[in-house]
Amino acid sequence: MKKSLTAIAAALVATAAIGTAQAEDVLIGSCIYKFDDTFMTGVRNNMQKAAESVGAEIELVDSQNRQPMQNDQVDTFITKGVNALIINPVDRSAAGPLADKAKSADLPIIYINREPDKAVLDGWSKAYYVGAKAEESGTIGGQLIAEYFKAHPEADKNKDGKLQYILIKGEQGHQDATLRSEYCVKAMKEAGLDIVEIGSDNANWDKVQGHDKMKNFITSLGIDAIEAVLANNDDMALGAVEALKSEGYNLGTDGKDPSKFVPVVGVDATAPALQAIAKGQLLGTSLNDAVNQGTAAVRIANEAAQGKPVTDEAIGYKITDGKYVWIPYVRVTQENYKDFM
Ligand code: GAL
Ligand code: CA
Repeated sequence: MKKSLTAIAAALVATAAIGTAQAEDVLIGSCIYKFDDTFMTGVRNNMQKAAESVGAEIELVDSQNRQPMQNDQVDTFITKGVNALIINPVDRSAAGPLADKAKSADLPIIYINREPDKAVLDGWSKAYYVGAKAEESGTIGGQLIAEYFKAHPEADKNKDGKLQYILIKGEQGHQDATLRSEYCVKAMKEAGLDIVEIGSDNANWDKVQGHDKMKNFITSLGIDAIEAVLANNDDMALGAVEALKSEGYNLGTDGKDPSKFVPVVGVDATAPALQAIAKGQLLGTSLNDAVNQGTAAVRIANEAAQGKPVTDEAIGYKITDGKYVWIPYVRVTQENYKDFM
């Protein structure tokens, strides 16, 4: 008799541990595709802060850009008994099996930054996505270049009435790389520019790769042939700026030759990008809002972990189709960069 009561008690404790958690003991397990990524470091730090502010605990792990490692980390989190998962997939096409794991364990799963197929989210009632519409940031970048080109006739270096530009893209297969590339070109055309793409390459969000790719373009095309650079993120844009600097270009406005400037745009509004805008080395960027993306993800995780409905009111963000939170991008130039520092 005694034994079976203990068994029942143990079973009850075990049941309580799965499914929903009490507000005070929510534990969120989160995998970041790689810690060594400037923008995702911002998101990560803000998730930590948001968890503190809602009184949840969060454990963040580095997936080191390896999907199999991330899959194992998710298994470990589930075994450990986390109450919700926040996942920044390494490979967004591998998001499906992670949703299956979450579903089998009855756990909410919130994807961030790398958007899974809609079918993945639709396949599990506790699956969500928090991100930003890449089209917006692409459009902002294209518009910034178009405005600059119109305001500075000398930017048409070869005086052919066309804009010869270089595109430095993020990781292949990433929605932000595809859509930003497509929409920046679209925006330049819509602004009425006659454009010619003279170079395009992937640099995987990375500053060193951005630098190296830009260096190659300068070598093969010649610095005078390049009239603008559109990069899918700030790290790659800043890498390109470094390559331009070593040619004596984009050294900044203080005392330097203003004609030696190639307009470069990025996306993210990282701290170093804001500094470069301040110095006149980078034309502009879009704020990819790490604070609100991180906060929204944690709030959804925290509500869902307690079995509460994830409503606009509960999380403080608009939830679309019961699944998506979209955080808007903001245009950042020399006029307003201070607002983001
Ligand atoms: C993008 C961001 C990049 C990089 C990437 C990682 O949204 O602009 O800088 O962080 O996400 O997935
Ligand atoms: Ca030209």
